[in-house]
Amino acid sequence: VDRSKYEALVRDCAWRPEGADLVGHLTEQVVLYETPSDRDLEPLAAILAERLSGAEVDPTRLSADSGQPLVHFYRGALAYEQGDDELALAALGEALKLDPGEPIAHHLHAHLSGESPASVSSAERLQVLDRMAKALMADPYERAVDFIAATIRAQRRPRVLEVGVGGGTQIVALLERLAADPGEVEELRIVGLDIVPEYLEGVAGRLDELDRADLPPFSFEAVEGSVETIDAATRRRIAGDGIDAINASIVLHEVPGLGKLDALRALAEFEGAALAMAEWNFTTENVIGTREALFLFNVRGAAAAMAGAVRPGHGLEVARKGVRVWLGQGHDQLVGDATVRQECFLSADGWERLFAATGWDAKRTSGTDGRAAIVTWDARPTAA
Ligand SMILES: C[S@@+](CC[C@H](N)C(=O)[O-])C[C@H]1O[C@@H](n2cnc3c(N)ncnc32)[C@H](O)[C@@H]1O
Repeated sequence: VDRSKYEALVRDCAWRPEGADLVGHLTEQVVLYETPSDRDLEPLAAILAERLSGAEVDPTRLSADSGQPLVHFYRGALAYEQGDDELALAALGEALKLDPGEPIAHHLHAHLSGESPASVSSAERLQVLDRMAKALMADPYERAVDFIAATIRAQRRPRVLEVGVGGGTQIVALLERLAADPGEVEELRIVGLDIVPEYLEGVAGRLDELDRADLPPFSFEAVEGSVETIDAATRRRIAGDGIDAINASIVLHEVPGLGKLDALRALAEFEGAALAMAEWNFTTENVIGTREALFLFNVRGAAAAMAGAVRPGHGLEVARKGVRVWLGQGHDQLVGDATVRQECFLSADGWERLFAATGWDAKRTSGTDGRAAIVTWDARPTAA
């Protein structure tokens, strides 16, 4: 697949809801407001659907008098897309009058006014990220570990590949699962792959400190490298006498563009291995332009998915701060140049196209409606 085919694939599978689906989704997008209301969402959906399906739309068709801040946000987004920054600024200003704390309108308004958006201190950032991670990751991380444990329990000496070991949380969780219910497992052999050597060392240290009396015998082999460019020697080393299961949780979104296909294809070559994957939803892959209404729609949707997961347990302020932290990452996720923007957010459908193109038969196991912030899949090699 060359870059242009890849771009077509990403563009083609971008989510463009209409009718009741779009109204329903906009009802989720208002979670970022102090007082979420479904006022005026139907007329907004009708006009937005036209734009998402490719028609030119005059932003002034959206009411300048609505009491719904989201109407003003999209009036601004449509104007911004057309290069009418004056109208965009005025419309975003109206949105902020109705709710000054909404982070995306605030960020874009600040950018258009030549100001820098409010930032979050690094101490606060860490605290917020930790809470967000706990709220977002608990279920997907658990599901991935459960799937791996269930897949290997019938074997005596299973070998598991952990792609992106990070802090090793899932490796420890897998050992604990097997301690509680070992099945036939007499020894677990873990191969950990990561591009960051310090993470690999950290995990090795963490595993050394575990009380082995409580755990099944295990070994850990650290392999430094990037999943999308594993060379032949490294591949042989990882393959060893076989890989039974692979965990790739919240890793592949970090692999730019086409590399995602290379990575999935490389993993499919470990013959017979089952794959657990958890990933962010809605990646636009730098394919969709920064000023496109589709891009702003995706960002607004992704932010709402995060806030929707975080707000019930932690409140609106933490949810909004989380969105601000995300927007401020790297070269600025909202207004930064598309070519240096972090890769975030394909739709779940997009990931599934990538699975299908690389030899995986994947079943969605969480976020089954495809709209969750993080989606998980159990995948098996496509039968030859
Ligand atoms: C969110 S963490 C995974 C968390 C981990 N499963 C755990 O239990 O803590 C993602 C990891 O992927 C690694 N990573 C990023 N890009 C990678 C690549 N191209 N190849 C291999 N690992 C990569 C990062 O260094 C990071 O450690």
